[in-house]
Amino acid sequence: MDLQLKGKTALVTGASRGIGLAVVRALAAEGVRVVAAARTTTPEVVAAGAIPVTADLSAPAAAERLVTEAITELGGLDILVNNVGGGDGGLSGGFLELTDAQWAQVVDLNFFATVRVTLAALPALAAARGAVVNVSSIGARVPHGGPIAYTTAKAALTAFGKALAEEFGPQGVRVNTVSPGPVRTDMWESPTGYGAELATAMGIPHDELLANLPTAMGMVINRLVEPSEVAALVTYLASPRAAATTGTDHLIDGGAVKTA
Ligand SMILES: NC(=O)c1ccc[n+]([C@@H]2O[C@H](COP(=O)([O-])OP(=O)(O)OC[C@H]3O[C@@H](n4cnc5c(N)ncnc54)[C@H](OP(=O)(O)O)[C@@H]3O)[C@@H](O)[C@H]2O)c1
Repeated sequence: MDLQLKGKTALVTGASRGIGLAVVRALAAEGVRVVAAARTTTPEVVAAGAIPVTADLSAPAAAERLVTEAITELGGLDILVNNVGGGDGGLSGGFLELTDAQWAQVVDLNFFATVRVTLAALPALAAARGAVVNVSSIGARVPHGGPIAYTTAKAALTAFGKALAEEFGPQGVRVNTVSPGPVRTDMWESPTGYGAELATAMGIPHDELLANLPTAMGMVINRLVEPSEVAALVTYLASPRAAATTGTDHLIDGGAVKTA
């Protein structure tokens, strides 16, 4: 199927690795010119043919500068993929262990970064009758299954996408959300990521946690989701083929969430 994306322009946040990098690759493969934003530039982003722009999106002023730079590079903006999120660890503690500063850090990266980038990008997106795809989490729907600050921020992000779709639909801007279950990225696999932290907190080896995760999460595919699988869904939602799809939230979780 031709996704009719050739020649379009996109900004992807959290793009140096994991799901963001997979989205960059998938969009580029469809002929989209992509600006890839993260704090660091990786060889993989450059190899994908994207234009790397460095930005620390936990800082409030970074969003506007990033969007300005992206629009200057691309000459407009058809697609915004708000993928940045997760964090650099510190997610595994319970409610009583979280400080005000940790709440602010998690909510900044997993919610306000998307609010700020979207605010800066909306005039260009409206001019292009463009599309926004936000990367949330199944934790927004099943909050007991994840760290409290993270799932609370993601629940806000999912609600934000729905509200934005309502407000800007009449101007031709579509907004959709993708909510993955466990995806095989550094978040789970890195020795300093959330998965390693969780294993330590549970008193089990990291590799044992990863091996048992699909079953523990009720994933009927019996494996983690691949970043490229999330990227394929994001790419479809960003494409004109999904012109009638807006205000939706799509699970991609291997069957983990059991409710309708
Ligand atoms: N993996 C999962 O199981 C899973 C499940 C559900 C939802 N998600 C969501 O999917 C999204 C991507 O997750 P992932 O697993 O691909 O994460 P990841 O592998 O940890 O990658 C995170 C990306 O965000 C960038 N980043 C981190 N902090 C940043 C900051 N302050 N400013 C700008 N960029 C920053 C990182 O690059 P730099 O370090 O170079 O900045 C990297 O490119 C996140 O929103 C996450 O919450 C993931």
